[in-house]
Amino acid sequence: MSARRIVVAIDGPAGAGKSTIARRIAARLGFLYIDTGAMYRAVALWARRLDVSLDDHLKLEQLARAAVIELRSNPLGVVLNGEEITELIRNPEISQEASKVSAIPGVRRALVDKQRAMGEVNSIVMEGRDIGTVVFPEAAIKIFLDAAASVRAQRRLDELRAKGQTGLTLEEVLKDINERDTRDRTRAEAPLMQAPDAEYVDSTHEPVEEVEERILMLVRARTSNGKELHK
Ligand code: DC
Repeated sequence: MSARRIVVAIDGPAGAGKSTIARRIAARLGFLYIDTGAMYRAVALWARRLDVSLDDHLKLEQLARAAVIELRSNPLGVVLNGEEITELIRNPEISQEASKVSAIPGVRRALVDKQRAMGEVNSIVMEGRDIGTVVFPEAAIKIFLDAAASVRAQRRLDELRAKGQTGLTLEEVLKDINERDTRDRTRAEAPLMQAPDAEYVDSTHEPVEEVEERILMLVRARTSNGKELHK
């Protein structure tokens, strides 16, 4: 049996801990880590800079197709058309705009094409909202990572504060997360939902290390040493 590439798909709402978990698992397995939310954020940032209306779907689709997005792993970073934008896309305004931009079917088509190309040659841990349902429905391992909304809001607030963004309250962050999740779950195109064959993992009360071990056990159960898929 020859080695085949392995896809670990992690979906879930904002603040569930997807990035932390996905990064750690990718490092443990030696797989490429791909943050698809960063790609929607990059398109939102570009649209804002060019003053493109979020109602101009055609133009936004063109931007999504034209965008050259690199997801650097070492050091971790996001590069748009040659410019480092890692920190510029991590604020509540871009979060909301990314969520709006991501509801546009043409934008999704453009970015999903890029995501599939990234996963074509590498074993990957890819996180987002539609990875197990749309981008890689044949992924070997699918996780739906969830947590109580209040816990997700607190985690986001801690992240923002750690970056020096101290002006927000827990209530504001919770409102922001709820608004975004509702939009992401109710949109017509590729809404956030659990794939029927995904493992539901609730991280509300579980430390990161335990969630990580649980997912790694799943990966090992379905692969040999994380390298080959069991037939
Ligand atoms: O994961 P994130 O919070 O960085 O994602 C930002 C927005 O992008 C999120 O509100 C919904 C959208 N998104 C999406 O629709 N599909 C993905 N695969 C990833 C993100």
